[in-house]
Amino acid sequence: GEVFVRGLKDLIRTIPDYPKPGIMFRDVTTLLGDAKGLKTAVAAMAEPFEGERVDAVAGIEARGFILGGAIADRLGCGFIPIRKKGKLPWKTIGQEYTLEYGVDVIEIHEDALAPGQRVLIVDDLIATGGTADAAVKLLRRSKGEIVGATFIIDLPELGGLELVKSHGIPCHALVAFDGH
Ligand code: PRP
Ligand code: MG
Repeated sequence: GEVFVRGLKDLIRTIPDYPKPGIMFRDVTTLLGDAKGLKTAVAAMAEPFEGERVDAVAGIEARGFILGGAIADRLGCGFIPIRKKGKLPWKTIGQEYTLEYGVDVIEIHEDALAPGQRVLIVDDLIATGGTADAAVKLLRRSKGEIVGATFIIDLPELGGLELVKSHGIPCHALVAFDGH
């Protein structure tokens, strides 16, 4: 409910002008460090998907790992890491995505998913949606079926949640921040 969400929002620290002037950085370390905050965030992120078959959680490096492991445990399924380029030890498939300056690549193990496995995408925050959209592409190329995507924070002005929803994926975020 609303009180719960407001309580969570208050646990997120805002750092003005980080990492550069004009950016309001939403810092979830303060929420993650709070026992009740972490427990309630994990529960609320998992809740929309509890009635569904979920075979695996795919967490996006780095903060998506923290939440994704806990959500996978809660849903009783496995965890699949989606990592930045060059970090996974076995054969990978990669997907480029656009950053403000240039491009980056995320990767998944080529055998991480069995065909038709139902996967839930987890990250701490969605902004432009570039990262989550690349994760969608990777998981679909891996023959996975995407159950949804769940985040703590949405920055609606940047349109990422709507972008991912436009691919037919149910998306949930616990709190939204505007740019000021
Ligand atoms: C942040 C955040 C999301 C991504 C969202 O991660 O944790 O993963 O940006 O941005 P987008 O919707 O515009 O793609 P970052 O790339 O800073 O890396 P980190 O999680 O490893 O710190
Ligand atoms: Mg990230």
